[in-house]
Amino acid sequence: MNTEKDKLLEAKEHFHGSDLEKIEKYFGIPKERITAFGANVNPLGISPRMRRGLASHIDAVSSYPDPEYTELRGHIAAYAGCRPEEILVGNGCTELISLFIQIHPPGKALIISPTYSEYEREIRLCGGTVRYYALQEALDFQLDTEDFCRELSAQKPDICVICNPNNPTSTAVLPGEMRRILDCCRELGTFVMIDETYAEFAPENTGVTAVGLLKEYKNFVILRGVSKFFAAPGLRLGYAMTSDLDLLAEIRERKNPWTLNSLADVAGSLMFTDREYIEQTRELISSERERIFRELSSWKNVKVYRPWANFILVRILKEGVTAYDVFLHAIRQGLMLRDCSTFPGLEDETFFRFCFMMPEKNTELLECLKELLE
Ligand SMILES: Cc1ncc(COP(=O)(O)O)c(C=O)c1O
Repeated sequence: MNTEKDKLLEAKEHFHGSDLEKIEKYFGIPKERITAFGANVNPLGISPRMRRGLASHIDAVSSYPDPEYTELRGHIAAYAGCRPEEILVGNGCTELISLFIQIHPPGKALIISPTYSEYEREIRLCGGTVRYYALQEALDFQLDTEDFCRELSAQKPDICVICNPNNPTSTAVLPGEMRRILDCCRELGTFVMIDETYAEFAPENTGVTAVGLLKEYKNFVILRGVSKFFAAPGLRLGYAMTSDLDLLAEIRERKNPWTLNSLADVAGSLMFTDREYIEQTRELISSERERIFRELSSWKNVKVYRPWANFILVRILKEGVTAYDVFLHAIRQGLMLRDCSTFPGLEDETFFRFCFMMPEKNTELLECLKELLE
């Protein structure tokens, strides 16, 4: 007969990510009562401007979207700070990861890890081999750029993938270091894919984004989407930015047209111009990030790494407590965080990650963590 512990261990595999239905089933907690600290989504919800405006554009579904998405690309360019012709829109960042890998399937790839798993999956599906460059815990998961450039020169990969800020470490490569990497890759003929899904959450004074480098370098693409910052994963709206216009033309010629539907086209134009919401999101995340980082830094039983995104990676230093124990303790209070032991490189069961929600919920989570860890 299965004990509760067996059942929970058996279920463990399913609890990663944001599978609220499974959690509801195993723990009997209605999913509306679960706070998704594992999903990395803006707690303010969708843009009010989009909420107000989208319904009146419902008739957009009766025609095909503009195949060039001219208006949307104009709004994205103004929002992100690049030229409209440097933009390709797609069905979430996920479609763009696939398109930029499929267009010239890389034989060899170098990926900075631990990181999001989709890059490896796509490269392998296209027949490529993947090597990981592991960020060192001893360096607080900060990239040693010179060492990484040596590894690039030794490996000579066709593609190099950098998630910036990185999921799950929340660490970042700043433009000066990115410039060094792009120089090195240009010499080697390596294409660089930078996933900036979390870049808009980064402190503004740090200028984490590589958008400013588009003018100087053609050997890279920046990928983003609206799933996290704009809290709209169901829209499936993503965009790529590169100054290699020949590559963009090649992808446009080969990709399916209209992979972004006409409602997402309209929604994008509304949300990228919602200045007040964008500002509010930045302020909320910045102050919660600082507060939580400061608080956790003062605890003796955990180690935290300075976060640049809207989430933080935590290492448990308390003997005998695993990330799964923390997950179970928190979920019983309806707080769902992410046990990071499925990320290659973080398998020792001491790491968990959570994103910043509304201040009172964050305080509730800190109290809950304190019960187990302090
Ligand atoms: C680093 C990273 N890139 C991309 C995605 C997926 O983005 P999208 O919903 O825009 O396809 C995620 C989702 O968790 C992510 O963490």
